[in-house]
Amino acid sequence: MTLNEQKNLAAVSAIDDLIKHGLIFSGMKIGLGTGSTAMPAVERLAERIRDGSLSDIRAVPTSFQTTIACENLGIPVYSMNSREIGGQLDLAIDGADEIDPGNNAIKGGGAALLREKIVAYNAKVFVIVADSTKDVPSLGTGFALPVEIIAEARTSVMAEIRSLGAEPVLREGVRKAGPVITDNGNLILDCRWKAGADGAAPIDPEQMEERLNRIVGVVENGFFTAKKPIVYIARENGTVDKR
Ligand code: 5RP
Repeated sequence: MTLNEQKNLAAVSAIDDLIKHGLIFSGMKIGLGTGSTAMPAVERLAERIRDGSLSDIRAVPTSFQTTIACENLGIPVYSMNSREIGGQLDLAIDGADEIDPGNNAIKGGGAALLREKIVAYNAKVFVIVADSTKDVPSLGTGFALPVEIIAEARTSVMAEIRSLGAEPVLREGVRKAGPVITDNGNLILDCRWKAGADGAAPIDPEQMEERLNRIVGVVENGFFTAKKPIVYIARENGTVDKR
């Protein structure tokens, strides 16, 4: 299977399985993630609304990309603070950049990590859908960890991140001169640690998720370790592992 076929398979299988097990249901409040694996999940949700399996779904999108998709597909969108949502969701479904065997994840490849974490951490159930390339033995040395920061603190935050052993790189825009500006008006630093002699990452993602957020000027980081997701990973042979 190609990567796109795997993304689609993971997304569609997850939505159908979650409906079957009653975790996606009519009248629920659902958080919808961002990226090329979350999008087919949003499309499948819309299909299941159209075929009458689901009704009265209230969705909270995690980015402009997902808001536009919901608008085009006719899924009603709300903010986390709306009276209909009240800051709490029944379930959130999203993609990931990397997932380790303990279901800790790195997210933020699409620069949407802040809203993604607000949505995931305030949902009763968190679900990740992914292709096989996202399944890795450890986090921090492969896909660079996205950290959302206040522009004014760029230099001081970069120095602090270096002191924690990582090399931060300011994310540059594509078809736009200068850095990426997030949906929240902030910058992104992509931070990577060097692997130790044994090939493993020299950090504990759970500790690092908390440690990075203590740096003045860091808004949020892309380690997702505090809320363990149900993970659906599509494999090249066309099967899907659920863990
Ligand atoms: C966006 C994200 C995405 O979920 C992550 O980057 C995975 O994207 P894709 O499914 O396109 O590979 O965290 O901020």
